[in-house]
Amino acid sequence: MNRGTLHEQLKNLEMIFLLSKTDLSDLAMKFHEEMKGEASRNNSLKMLPTYLSAPTGHETGSFLTIDFGGTNIRLQFVVLLGEGHYEIIKSCSFPLKSPSGLYDYTSKGSSAEDLFYFIAAHIAEMVEAENIYPLGHTFSFPCKQLETNRAILINWSKEFKTSGVEGHEITGLLEKALAQKDLQNVKPVAIINDTTGTLLAASYASPSADIGSICGTGHNTCYIEPEEPSTGRPMIINLESGNFNKIPSTPYDHCLDQASERPGEQILEKAVSGRYIGEIVRLVTSDLIQQKFLFIDNVPGFVDIPNSIKAEDVTDILEDNTLSLSRISDWLKFNWEIDHSSLEERCALKTIASLVTMRSAQLIAGTYIGILHHIDPLLLSEHVIAVDGALFEKMPHYANRIQTTLDEIYLDNSNKVTLRFTKDGSGIGAAIAAAICISK
Ligand code: BGC
Repeated sequence: MNRGTLHEQLKNLEMIFLLSKTDLSDLAMKFHEEMKGEASRNNSLKMLPTYLSAPTGHETGSFLTIDFGGTNIRLQFVVLLGEGHYEIIKSCSFPLKSPSGLYDYTSKGSSAEDLFYFIAAHIAEMVEAENIYPLGHTFSFPCKQLETNRAILINWSKEFKTSGVEGHEITGLLEKALAQKDLQNVKPVAIINDTTGTLLAASYASPSADIGSICGTGHNTCYIEPEEPSTGRPMIINLESGNFNKIPSTPYDHCLDQASERPGEQILEKAVSGRYIGEIVRLVTSDLIQQKFLFIDNVPGFVDIPNSIKAEDVTDILEDNTLSLSRISDWLKFNWEIDHSSLEERCALKTIASLVTMRSAQLIAGTYIGILHHIDPLLLSEHVIAVDGALFEKMPHYANRIQTTLDEIYLDNSNKVTLRFTKDGSGIGAAIAAAICISK
């Protein structure tokens, strides 16, 4: 193996993956232009009105919530106590698969009826016939909101494919399934995006929260538009920023996009989110393997298996701080039957994982800078960016990398912008949205 050449390859990857300060400002500017609608026909941001604004913090009551957005669904009983306090009384989570694992409710072969009946059946196990349950529903896909309790799915994302849901009104589908299960006592009152939920959960306790974001399986951000044109009042706008497409991209991104369910869509999400970053790591590593810079005698099986490296694997790779990178060695052994790998090869794998996740954090920070420029160009006020999602919570150095990218731009003003991890915000926000809607 030519050490210098592998080194050069990794240096080259650094050049194509990492963003300079100029790249960042450029991205933030393009993002801001799209927010203003200046890119008009080519706008990739959906900018969806939610008809909700920040809570007062005085909302109270007990609510059932559905958090639907990844491969698991979560049902919770949330009690809002006011002044930013809440309790989760009961929580249950289940995968969108039949208990045998054979039937996948997110696949094309599954229908809207099957999917919502399956959810209603789980709700039936949590509720009692004699009680009434106001329900807040977090449905984390791009939706055109007709009002706070009615939303039409524009298109699936995150490789969901269930038939008969796109173009349909989601609360109606849920209500039908609830009726079939004889659950007239469960009353959907609000449907929101998970970014809205995260923002509502953070601003329930802290009035300076004005941006909500998810860095998890998917990616998206919402913000409070201080003067929404149709009402002249503050309103949360769901940017659907995962669809933003004016980002510097690499041949690996192109390859991933072409093989995806919807080429050309969700370009930012495909470069940053947990559903895809493992695949980018796989594509980059496979490229180096095919060019014979790595694992020359013993090619790991992931080279031929799309999506075989997951975000969790990337987390494990980056968490390996042993001198000999023994955890990466074990990962190669147990998952890919590579009994002998060199330290240089393991280091290369860690470098690739680090570049891919660093770029993810930088790109996301760039979009936050664009939003902040839109709502407060001189950065006169304090802003809390509420973030939920496994990538933000668990990926080593990820949250820090977003913060340092912001700090590098804002310098002396950087204390004005705080990132706040808002755990389970998407679910709690559904209860807050339900409380707001009931009191209207
Ligand atoms: C969806 C967004 C959602 C995000 C995070 C994206 O794929 O389009 O609506 O907020 O995932 O869950």
